[in-house]
Amino acid sequence: MGLLIFLFILTSSSITTFASKPEANALLTWKTSLVNRNNPLLSSWALAPDYNLTGTINRNTSATLCTWYGVHCDARGNVEKLNLTASRLNGTLNHFTFSSFSSLTHLELNTNNILGSIPVEVRYLTKLVFLDLSGNQFSGEIPKEIGMLTGLKTLLLDDNKLSGYIPQELGNLGNLVKMNMSVNFLKGPIPSSLGNMTKLTELYLFQNNLSGLIPPEIGNLGSLKILNLDFNDLSGSIPPSLGNLSSLTVLYTYRNKLLGRIPKELGNMKSLTVFGIGHNQLSGSIPASLGNLTKLKQLDVHENLISGVIPPEFGKLESLIQLSFSHNKFSGQIPVSVGNLSTLEQLYLNDNQFDGFLPKELGNLNSLVEMILVKNRLNGSIPDSLGNLLKLEEFLLHDNQFSGYLPETISKCEKLKYLTLSNNSMTGPVPKSVCTLRSLQILDLGNNGFSGPVLQCFGNFSHELIVLDLRLNSFHGTVPPMLLNQNNNLRSLNLNGNRLQGSIPGTLINCRKLEVVDLGNNMLSGGFPHWLEALPMLQVLVLRGNKLNGTLQTSNTKTPFPNLRILDLSSNEFTGLLPSKYFKNFKAMTGIDRKASGAQYMGGNVSMYEDTIELVVKGLKLELERILVIYTAIDLSVNKFQGEIPHTIERLTSLRFLNLSHNSLTGQIPNNLRNIELLESLDLSSNKLVGEIPLPLASLNFLAVVNFSQNQLQGAIPPGGQFNTFGNNSFQGNKGLCGFPLTKSCGDDEVPFSQIPKGDEDDDSDFLNGFTWESVAIGYGFGMLFGLVIGWLIFYTGKPRWVIRITEREQSRLGRRSRKRTSKRSQLSQISNASFSS
Ligand SMILES: *[C@@H]1O[C@H](CO)[C@@H](O)[C@H](O)[C@H]1NC(C)=O
Ligand SMILES: *[C@@H]1O[C@H](CO)[C@@H](O)[C@H](O)[C@H]1NC(C)=O
Ligand SMILES: *[C@@H]1O[C@H](CO)[C@@H](O)[C@H](O)[C@H]1NC(C)=O
Ligand SMILES: *[C@@H]1O[C@H](CO)[C@@H](O)[C@H](O)[C@H]1NC(C)=O
Ligand SMILES: *[C@@H]1O[C@H](CO)[C@@H](O)[C@H](O)[C@H]1NC(C)=O
Ligand SMILES: *[C@@H]1O[C@H](CO)[C@@H](O)[C@H](O)[C@H]1NC(C)=O
Ligand SMILES: *[C@@H]1O[C@H](CO)[C@@H](O)[C@H](O)[C@H]1NC(C)=O
Ligand SMILES: *[C@@H]1O[C@H](CO)[C@@H](O)[C@H](O)[C@H]1NC(C)=O
Ligand SMILES: *[C@@H]1O[C@H](CO)[C@@H](O)[C@H](O)[C@H]1NC(C)=O
Ligand SMILES: *[C@@H]1O[C@H](CO)[C@@H](O)[C@H](O)[C@H]1NC(C)=O
Ligand SMILES: *[C@@H]1O[C@H](CO)[C@@H](O)[C@H](O)[C@H]1NC(C)=O
Ligand SMILES: *[C@@H]1O[C@H](CO)[C@@H](O)[C@H](O)[C@H]1NC(C)=O
Repeated sequence: MGLLIFLFILTSSSITTFASKPEANALLTWKTSLVNRNNPLLSSWALAPDYNLTGTINRNTSATLCTWYGVHCDARGNVEKLNLTASRLNGTLNHFTFSSFSSLTHLELNTNNILGSIPVEVRYLTKLVFLDLSGNQFSGEIPKEIGMLTGLKTLLLDDNKLSGYIPQELGNLGNLVKMNMSVNFLKGPIPSSLGNMTKLTELYLFQNNLSGLIPPEIGNLGSLKILNLDFNDLSGSIPPSLGNLSSLTVLYTYRNKLLGRIPKELGNMKSLTVFGIGHNQLSGSIPASLGNLTKLKQLDVHENLISGVIPPEFGKLESLIQLSFSHNKFSGQIPVSVGNLSTLEQLYLNDNQFDGFLPKELGNLNSLVEMILVKNRLNGSIPDSLGNLLKLEEFLLHDNQFSGYLPETISKCEKLKYLTLSNNSMTGPVPKSVCTLRSLQILDLGNNGFSGPVLQCFGNFSHELIVLDLRLNSFHGTVPPMLLNQNNNLRSLNLNGNRLQGSIPGTLINCRKLEVVDLGNNMLSGGFPHWLEALPMLQVLVLRGNKLNGTLQTSNTKTPFPNLRILDLSSNEFTGLLPSKYFKNFKAMTGIDRKASGAQYMGGNVSMYEDTIELVVKGLKLELERILVIYTAIDLSVNKFQGEIPHTIERLTSLRFLNLSHNSLTGQIPNNLRNIELLESLDLSSNKLVGEIPLPLASLNFLAVVNFSQNQLQGAIPPGGQFNTFGNNSFQGNKGLCGFPLTKSCGDDEVPFSQIPKGDEDDDSDFLNGFTWESVAIGYGFGMLFGLVIGWLIFYTGKPRWVIRITEREQSRLGRRSRKRTSKRSQLSQISNASFSS
């Protein structure tokens, strides 16, 4: 038996040592060079002995090679395809012998961890049809030798770290059908020679740093279906020759620096379904010829400088799903023909200069899901016909000039989630039927002329409701009893600036998720709603400008108001002592991370609504739109508080704003106020405070606004620090105060011992003698500091608002870097843009 086998072997193949196939050697050599050469996926890459006779190991590599992982041979046993997609390869191609693979047509190394450059020897793969090196860490330049692989149909180098220029030699790839070089660091121009790749159907160059013009030769690519140049540095205008791309279905040039007009020739791109050229600097009017693109589904030119009207011809875009013109300079009326776009789901016209009425024909858009018209000059009333938009979920109209009533028909839009009408001139009562909108999450009617009783049915609104904002209207009646069960989602309740009477309903405690309660500037009476102490998320409580009375000393809760950051009880009739227990236990004002610097807003994912609140700083009303998490303030001014300022106030180490003015406070200013290191604004004016201004307050580096006036303070004003920057009206009306900035100087014997500056005696005399060159210089220095602090304050209080806006745009830009181009995503970025104030 053994002999038989021996004979069989002996006859069927001569016992010669087979020369290993060069491909096998090449792969084994390369495998040895990998960082993870023991990669189990490559375990089949080994020269297995076919038989073991007389101690000699003979190898039939042509048999085994073709069974190796990722290796595919042709009929003659030559390696034809090497597919090592997502094989956890870690290493370089420096030891890959390209010349051994003369039959290779497919090389797929995508989704690995291969570093280093693409070797120029790639040119030896003369039969190559398909090259995919995407999703690696390749760096350096693209070798121009790839241009010699003229059989190539697919070239995928995307998602690497390739830099340098796109070699113009690639223009020789006359058979290329698909090229993807996106997500690299390529720079310089797009070579005009690419116009020679006449078989190209897909060209992706997005997310590089390509500059210069879009070469007009691209217009020669008659087979091109997809062109994506997003996120580059391309400039100049869009070449009219692109209009020759009659097969093009998708055109993206988002986020470049393209200028000039949109060429009317683009109206010839008969196959176009997606036209996305947002975030450029295109100007002029939008050509009416685009109305010929009847296959268009998405027309997105947002964030450009396009002016003029929407051509009525756009009513012919019968396939349109998304129309996005936001953040441009469009003007004129919304054309009636827009009502013909029966497949339209998203209409974004926000942040333009549209004026005139909303055409009632918009009520024909029965596929519409989102209508965002925010920040225009639209006027007239909201047409009843919009009640026909049964699929409408987002109806954002804030910051326009709409007038008239909110139509009763709005309640037919049963899917409505967001309804924002703030900052318009709407009048009349709110129809009761609004309360039947069970999906409503945001109802923002703020700053209009709405009147009538505040609807009591708001009190048992849908549990979906997150924001109820009726501020700055003329509603009367009582605060609706919030009869919602404890699973409700109400986060923000803003009824500021109405004519509400009665007391604050205890049922508010059912709204466990409340973060903002603003009932300020009404005519509310009764005592302080101390039971709100138990709301775990409450961050902002504003009750200013009411007729609330009684004391604040009734707390039983262990940690009252655990998350409160803004407490404004100003201009009420509160009496008794200041709430020292609160000061001790406001956890959020004692524990905020001081290093927190990034702008973090409240409200998380609700981006179409911004909590707006007013604080009075230095006589200026600051509107804090989007309340910043790190902003902390206590305003108890204009009440009838008595007694001393409690020492517990020092616990509020992260407080930035403290106003106790216009009360009847007595005793001394506590020394330990200096522990509130972040304090920027301190107003103790118009009280009955006595004693000296504590010297340590001069060490409060952020203090920018101070008012000690109209008290009974005495002694020298502390010199140095921010105190050198305050004017005399910060100290007026205190008969006993002296020293800079007051004209009354302190006689030697009037300077209390404790307040003599610790410097040497020369400094002391300089101080007493008024200005010297040195003190002017120091004053100037602090003046600069003051300026910076004010700048900081302005930034963090939301004004000027463009600062915030830029930050946000950057964030949305980053969010976009890795976006898939679905309409949902672009919708999100639209909305986050829609929500900015300017
Ligand atoms: C081949 O045969 C020799 C002698 O019998 C033995 O020592 C060796 O382990 C065998 N090699 C393999 C790979 O089986
Ligand atoms: C080697 O492999 C080839 C291809 O599979 C086969 O035709 C040949 O018979 C094998 N030779 C030996 C000695 O096994
Ligand atoms: C290469 O392998 C991947 C993953 O195994 C597979 O998805 C892909 O289709 C293969 N490519 C070819 C051309 O067969
Ligand atoms: C690749 O190898 C490097 C160097 O040893 C190592 O730092 C890295 O984690 C490896 N990466 C992967 C994905 O295996
Ligand atoms: C092109 O490359 C990008 C980046 O890697 C990738 O997200 C995209 O899916 C690729 N597209 C095609 C069609 O290959
Ligand atoms: C390729 O393009 C370049 C630059 O546009 C041009 O000069 C050249 O003649 C073209 N070559 C072919 C073969 O068309
Ligand atoms: C892109 O190129 C410009 C010059 O064209 C350069 O200033 C910039 O730093 C580059 N950006 C990146 C990310 O490489
Ligand atoms: C391409 O477009 C240009 C400019 O619009 C035009 O002059 C030229 O004739 C067009 N070429 C073809 C082949 O249609
Ligand atoms: C394209 O639009 C323009 C302007 O609206 C019009 O004059 C022209 O006739 C249209 N062309 C075709 C082929 O429809
Ligand atoms: C809009 O549709 C109406 C009726 O369907 C039609 O009469 C009108 O011409 C259309 N307007 C446009 C601009 O297409
Ligand atoms: C609406 O705006 C238009 C254009 O600005 C103006 O002519 C018209 O008088 C305004 N109508 C109302 C009711 O304000
Ligand atoms: C609060 O004001 C009401 C009248 O609005 C008055 O009846 C009540 O006695 C006051 N309570 C206190 C404690 O002053």
